[in-house]
Amino acid sequence: MSKKLVIGNWKMNPESFAVAKAIAQKTREISMKLKNTEVVVCPPFSFIPACVSRNQPAAFHLGAQSVSFEESGPHTGEVGIKMLANLGVEYIITGHSEERAAGDTDEMVSKRIFRIVEGGLTAVVCVGEKNRDDDGVHLEFLRKQIKGTFANIPEDKAKRIILAYEPIWAIGAKEAMLPEQVYEMSLFVKKIFADVFGHEAGHKVRVLYGGSVNFRNAGDIIKVGKVDGLLVGRESVNMPGFKELLKAVDAIE
Ligand code: 13P
Repeated sequence: MSKKLVIGNWKMNPESFAVAKAIAQKTREISMKLKNTEVVVCPPFSFIPACVSRNQPAAFHLGAQSVSFEESGPHTGEVGIKMLANLGVEYIITGHSEERAAGDTDEMVSKRIFRIVEGGLTAVVCVGEKNRDDDGVHLEFLRKQIKGTFANIPEDKAKRIILAYEPIWAIGAKEAMLPEQVYEMSLFVKKIFADVFGHEAGHKVRVLYGGSVNFRNAGDIIKVGKVDGLLVGRESVNMPGFKELLKAVDAIE
């Protein structure tokens, strides 16, 4: 079985370089002991250098929370793919609901994914519905979102994509989605991915769950939800909690 992937999305945290450095250091120490799990930390751009060390354990990887869809040129305020790659970033989150809420359309997400995969990095692409309903409208919404998000991505780049299913109603909430529902939805998003990229790509794509994951629910979400990993917000910058979370995930055979 392949290793589980736990990605920490630090969002707009912490407030200082020194604290970022300390969180990264702690995460690095924990990841040295992991046998079945890989960890990715995604700090804000300004703190990525705080997470770089000469002794990076094999299970510890660097990620970013977004990237410009422009390759280079005069784009004030933007951060380009090569800058991130040159810092050692391997994974980039895109399509996050918070970035979509700030104005990113499916088309813009698609352009960012293109830039990431063409740059040889891995795109962690977030999809998810605002609400669930009994009539299955959320399924139709997801189908459209996934198809729009992956429009214009060459088929041979599917292997550089990880799907992060994050139902918006479960982000920053009290409770995560129930593990049984996570299982159902992960199969659904895989199926749509297969419609876009073909059967084999759909079979191989890794699916993560995100939304109020903590050290208490992480194990069940992986075991019962049968996902390949987790995209963790708050708990990834909360040190005792993240340590316990990683231990729980790593204990799953
Ligand atoms: P929380 O884990 O804080 O709910 O955030 C989830 C998320 O948005 C990760 O990308």
